[in-house]
Amino acid sequence: MNGINPSSVHDFPLVTAETSDAVRVLDVHHWTDRLFSFSVERPPSFRFRSGEFVMIGLLNESDRPLLRAYSIASPFWDETLSFYSIKVEDGPLTSRLQHISAGDYIIMKTKPVGTLVLDALLPGRRLYLISTGTGVAPFASLLRDPDVYDQFDEVILTHTCREVSELGFSADLINRTQTDLLVGEEAIKKLTYYPTTTREASNRMGRVTNLIESGALFEDLGCTAFNVETDRVMICGSMNMNMDMKSLCLAAGLSEGANSEPGHFVVEKAFVG
Ligand code: A2P
Repeated sequence: MNGINPSSVHDFPLVTAETSDAVRVLDVHHWTDRLFSFSVERPPSFRFRSGEFVMIGLLNESDRPLLRAYSIASPFWDETLSFYSIKVEDGPLTSRLQHISAGDYIIMKTKPVGTLVLDALLPGRRLYLISTGTGVAPFASLLRDPDVYDQFDEVILTHTCREVSELGFSADLINRTQTDLLVGEEAIKKLTYYPTTTREASNRMGRVTNLIESGALFEDLGCTAFNVETDRVMICGSMNMNMDMKSLCLAAGLSEGANSEPGHFVVEKAFVG
């Protein structure tokens, strides 16, 4: 098959191999009725830093690219590029993108950007990766970057979702990271997975922000609250979670970092639509 085949295929021009910036879809996995991931062929000259995002999309009815930001969810050394997406029923892009299958083409702009990169953090000992929903995607790249384990003694991935089934992607990620040839051994020693749910019973319930505020997260991990000397934080999720986490970091005396000026924490929103 050549090109996307959504239900409303007649309303939209197809992306084909000849479309500017076209990449071929290799694999699609539907995690729940709201979440899916997919991988595409990596353009040979494409380079990125773990944690960065690119613009991805399809063509609109005027034959113009309709693009959204997607964090790369695969490691920088991988031959393919993976992405993790929500399905928004009336979302201009994801209502159609969710119908892609292997062999289709989508558009990917090859200019990676973003602040969830190691370069934007000052050196530290403990790295917190705090996510909700599809915000875990950039951490799927970072967790398989050997530099993360070289630079930090402890790495904690938190993932908060409404329901247990929505944790499937991160549970699988942890599994793949721990069995990874490159980082597996280090990950087993240094990586802690901290999943929580908010609307369905599970082993750990509650918003990660509340668990940080109450001290429950630190108690569970057996460590002290955020410490400016040792702790670094990367945040990626819904706008509200990002704002609440940012307040918690600032209250703990951490400063926000950027590519141009590294700091103690960095924030990126998980993009939807
Ligand atoms: P909640 O169920 O209490 O709203 P969504 O699916 O809406 O993007 O949410 C993903 C997860 O993020 C949900 O578990 C949700 O919890 C949680 N969440 C939403 N807002 C915040 C926030 N301000 N701080 C922490 N977690 C949040």
